[in-house]
Amino acid sequence: MSDKPVDSLTKDEARAELGRLSDLLTKANTAYHGEDAPFISDADYDAAKRRNAAIETRFPDLKRDDSPTDQVGAAPSEAFSKVRHRVRMMSLANAFSEEDISDFDRQVRSFLGVAPDTPLAFTAEPKIDGLSLSLRYEKGKLIEAATRGDGAEGENVTANARTIDDIPVTLTGAPDVLEVRGEVYMSRADFATLNDRQQARGGKTFANPRNAAAGSLRQLDPRITADRPLKFFAYAWGEVSEPLAPTQSAAIERLRDLGFQTNPLTRRVTTPDEMMAHYHAIEAQRATLDYDIDGVVYKVDDLALQQRLGFRSTTPRWAIAHKFPAELAWTQLEAIDIQVGRTGALSPVARLAPVTVGGVVVSNATLHNEDYIAGRDSKGGEIRGGKDIRIGDWVQVYRAGDVIPKVADVDLAKRPEGTEPYAFPTHCPECGSKAIREEGDAVRRCTGGMICPAQAVEKLKHFVSRGAFDIEGLGARQIEMFYHDDQLPIREPADIFTLATRDAENLTKLRNRDGYGEKSAANLFAGIEERRQIPLNRVIFALGIRHVGESAANLLARHYGDWSSFETAMTGATPEGGSAWDELLSIDGIGAVMATSLVTTFQQENERASIDRLAAQLDIQPVEAPRTEGSPVAGKTVVFTGTLEKMTRAEAKARAEALGAKVAGSVSAKTDLLVAGPGAGSKAKKAADLGIEMVDEDGWLDLIKDL
Ligand code: IVH
Repeated sequence: MSDKPVDSLTKDEARAELGRLSDLLTKANTAYHGEDAPFISDADYDAAKRRNAAIETRFPDLKRDDSPTDQVGAAPSEAFSKVRHRVRMMSLANAFSEEDISDFDRQVRSFLGVAPDTPLAFTAEPKIDGLSLSLRYEKGKLIEAATRGDGAEGENVTANARTIDDIPVTLTGAPDVLEVRGEVYMSRADFATLNDRQQARGGKTFANPRNAAAGSLRQLDPRITADRPLKFFAYAWGEVSEPLAPTQSAAIERLRDLGFQTNPLTRRVTTPDEMMAHYHAIEAQRATLDYDIDGVVYKVDDLALQQRLGFRSTTPRWAIAHKFPAELAWTQLEAIDIQVGRTGALSPVARLAPVTVGGVVVSNATLHNEDYIAGRDSKGGEIRGGKDIRIGDWVQVYRAGDVIPKVADVDLAKRPEGTEPYAFPTHCPECGSKAIREEGDAVRRCTGGMICPAQAVEKLKHFVSRGAFDIEGLGARQIEMFYHDDQLPIREPADIFTLATRDAENLTKLRNRDGYGEKSAANLFAGIEERRQIPLNRVIFALGIRHVGESAANLLARHYGDWSSFETAMTGATPEGGSAWDELLSIDGIGAVMATSLVTTFQQENERASIDRLAAQLDIQPVEAPRTEGSPVAGKTVVFTGTLEKMTRAEAKARAEALGAKVAGSVSAKTDLLVAGPGAGSKAKKAADLGIEMVDEDGWLDLIKDL
């Protein structure tokens, strides 16, 4: 692959290079998917694919009919069956400083009402940089192993997990049901040996031990997993038929006694100072450990307290990950590419000369927006001392945790001669439409709507995503593929359903397509058919209207009930006012910005026509209002405060909403009922001042018990 910056390629050079890249990538695809004998690394493959895309972006008219951008490889993840986790697999909130740690200690104490001078124990252990796995044992037998996935649903990797030495297949003396959770990882030494071996065989090498572990666990053929040296540390659990122990530390000991590996650097600590001391002790050993870690995890030791603390939406309140500082590296900025998102946002991406940052090869990073490149913040103030970023510059990149790498700084002393400030495009690089920046918006957006291929593709990807239509067999990759397919094009949501309608003819076309056989073609059509009948809230969310997320879609669906009422309201309302507009704004949780976005979408002729075509294909199920009959809290605004001992906050909120209540975060004159648990503070006082009805947790449960 040439390393000339894309921006300086002549048209002829670009044409020739697109030819070479197409060739290389086609061969790489066949080798990887068809012959299981890859000859280039993932990183090189990605780099080639990105360079190809960058050249195409610069010279759209040179894009080849067989462009690798439009080729889609088989998605291994679709081949594993799915497992719904009985207890969600959570992630951890992050802390980066000593201050964050004392805040964590303070928050835990204030939530529980534990005084600052009362000892409160935590466990502190390394955060292993691998991938989490849940192992389900029934009557002492390993019956299922699943990856984390999105936390609710993971992949079934049981056969592979059975090949890992650290994972016992039978347990003696365990509870009847026991889900053990922990981290699958690869030691650094094993990683190095594996990469050497792969290289010698001309196979695919991995960027770091974590990728190697993930790639090895998620193998369709368990014999390959068995051949890879994976290890496992147990540090948590999911469903258990009886408690393992009264404390985190004792539970971990119990897991060790049952035959699991547990991390030897785990300690019990009782103050933020001790947490910091153990953090530094682990950090000091980091380089000499034989496995990668990326921080230290603290967990409240007492499990009864963990239970009371409960969870936020995706993270426990009783634990936090104290991350090691981000790693930095300097490299040269080769090009700035503009990606166009679903709502038309133009996002600048830095294409970098590949550099290793904390064990990972980085070749692109986000540049946020045009102000960031120019050295300004959103209010016009200086960032990086006002230094702008130019193509050719030496820039500092960093990775903090799992997030996309970022460009932090630029070295003016190394700026090559003759560079120019970067001119942010004023037209969409994908469709040529004007890209405008609205007042107060940090982002420039393409005004092309559905005529913009990038927006259309992103919108379609959103349309088939999980909370939306979630069509089996039709994910982001397939959308990319069908969007560019002239035989079976999917250019707007309605096309998905017409594709499945003209059955016989399209089935034949699909079967003639690379990657589809008799069975997969029939499956795809069945997956589409299955979603023709779909609840209103999902349809609203799937439309991908700016500012309208999943919860707003739920509110709208619950309010309007069925498609025709919703649609009539959206076409009838105008931001200038009137009853339809007032009704829309009267929905708690729908503000003027969202309402404007909704009605302008429905009143744009093209969008509207596209929505109508979609609706004609569907059987949209009305959404029932919450079951409020006989509910004493229907329509009431309820606030929860203090500690709930019999349920988590999330559970309490969900239950209250199901009974037709609105759950608010703070007490105001509009509050009808305050549910106050132990440790209730200012909210209880305010409610008392306002004369608002108050009950404790038992009182609340009593109130709703027959429902
Ligand atoms: S506890 C409910 N402990 O970090 C909390 N997680 O950022 C469950 N991880 O998904 C997680 N080492 O994959 C826990 N000692 C440790 C860990 C650990 C690594 C991973 C785990 C989790 C992620 C969250």
